[in-house]
Amino acid sequence: MDFGAFKKKIDETFNLDLRSYKETQLHRRINSLMSRHKTADYLTYYRLLVQDPDVFKEFKDYLTINVTEFFRDPAMFRVLEEKVFPELLRNRMVLKIWSAACSNGAEPYSAAMILEELTPGRRHRIEATDIDEKVLQSAANGVYAADLLRNVSQARRAMHFREGNGCFVFSEQLKKRVAFKLHDLLKDPYGKGYDLIICRNVQIYFTRDAQDRINRLFNEALSPGGYLFVGSSETIFNYRELCFDKSYPCFYRKTGGGLSEGGSTIGAVR
Ligand SMILES: C[S@@+](CC[C@H](N)C(=O)[O-])C[C@H]1O[C@@H](n2cnc3c(N)ncnc32)[C@H](O)[C@@H]1O
Repeated sequence: MDFGAFKKKIDETFNLDLRSYKETQLHRRINSLMSRHKTADYLTYYRLLVQDPDVFKEFKDYLTINVTEFFRDPAMFRVLEEKVFPELLRNRMVLKIWSAACSNGAEPYSAAMILEELTPGRRHRIEATDIDEKVLQSAANGVYAADLLRNVSQARRAMHFREGNGCFVFSEQLKKRVAFKLHDLLKDPYGKGYDLIICRNVQIYFTRDAQDRINRLFNEALSPGGYLFVGSSETIFNYRELCFDKSYPCFYRKTGGGLSEGGSTIGAVR
């Protein structure tokens, strides 16, 4: 079995689209897992993945790099706070937001803090999704090590966190504003009518074809005038072709007039 056939078998058996991940990086990671299990060929490793749930879990964990932190890339979160949210809020009382590939929740909770400060008590609709059940569970728990809060000001720590046992527990009230769901960006249907989609630091792992496919789907999922917020190393060069304007670094605005009414949420996933 060659690497291509291995990826095909993984898709058929586990519904995981490895063909959309960049080949070199994926290859390196899988080869290192194979040597950890002393498996010399893809067929033996594939059989091991099928037989042993722990080996499969390790495989999936290895694939999903979960590195994140609150206000990752603070300058861009300042643009969100000072430019993008105020502009969106001029057109709409309640915003509909999707944090796609949200990891352990630090990203959607950062957006929730900013919105609570801009519009105290207002219940915006924030959906947050990831392919990895384990990170979604820790997002729901909302307990974080101090190093994930290095970009959180003392004022915000005091307002939105409770400190205990060397950890920081996120505000129960704001936690309830975010709905977490399992969702694979490469396989599952997308919702509609978002004012803002935050999808950062995951598309770098995907092939160019997959990136284009996802960005087109994001464009369809946004309301006219809605924003896509990407990672600093995820510049969309063909943004015009995908019907976006570039408003600020990392922010692409869907072209086509004012904001329309909100649509459906992300449907049932698997
Ligand atoms: C590096 S983290 C980025 C987290 C956050 N967006 C940020 O920028 O801090 C990448 C996340 O993408 C998720 N991921 C990887 N492949 C995915 C897919 N096909 N669909 C949805 N999420 C995926 C991983 O599980 C991981 O939590």
